[in-house]
Amino acid sequence: MAVLPIRKYGDDVLRKPAEPVTEINESLQQLIEDMVDTMYAAPGVGLAANQVGVSLRLMLIDLSVGKRPEELHVFINPEIIEAEGEITEEEGCLSIPDFVEVVTRPERVKLRYQDRNGVEREMWGDGLMARAMCHEIDHLNGTLFVDHLRGFKKDRIIRKIAKLAKSGMWG
Ligand code: NI
Repeated sequence: MAVLPIRKYGDDVLRKPAEPVTEINESLQQLIEDMVDTMYAAPGVGLAANQVGVSLRLMLIDLSVGKRPEELHVFINPEIIEAEGEITEEEGCLSIPDFVEVVTRPERVKLRYQDRNGVEREMWGDGLMARAMCHEIDHLNGTLFVDHLRGFKKDRIIRKIAKLAKSGMWG
């Protein structure tokens, strides 16, 4: 078991589009295990590989946060191939701890991805699952939820983070 440090807002690795996974090997399986431990320890419902400093298109979602093993999903090279509807709800991020804000996302999305055995799959997500899928794919593209905010809401969070960073309480 290894809980890895989670990179925070301001870290360059969060802003770099992640590279496709080309080989599903032992070291990738180890990374997946460490990411699972890290996500559950946080605790969080989703984690992208670049949040632990590895710039690869790999992300996890478990809405049960470890309570039900069948709810752990490992998505390798995921892409959204369909999206429907729109819903605005509160959202947070392990890389921007203690901040939440409302973000508009599709209500349903369909992902195409490889599972941890390299099998190509498709999966529909609804509601919170769709939101988590979009949020984690954003991470793989170097985007954070605050990038979806505008004006006052965005300024407020950025200003507070800058203040925390200045006093050494960030990163
Ligand atoms: Ni996040």
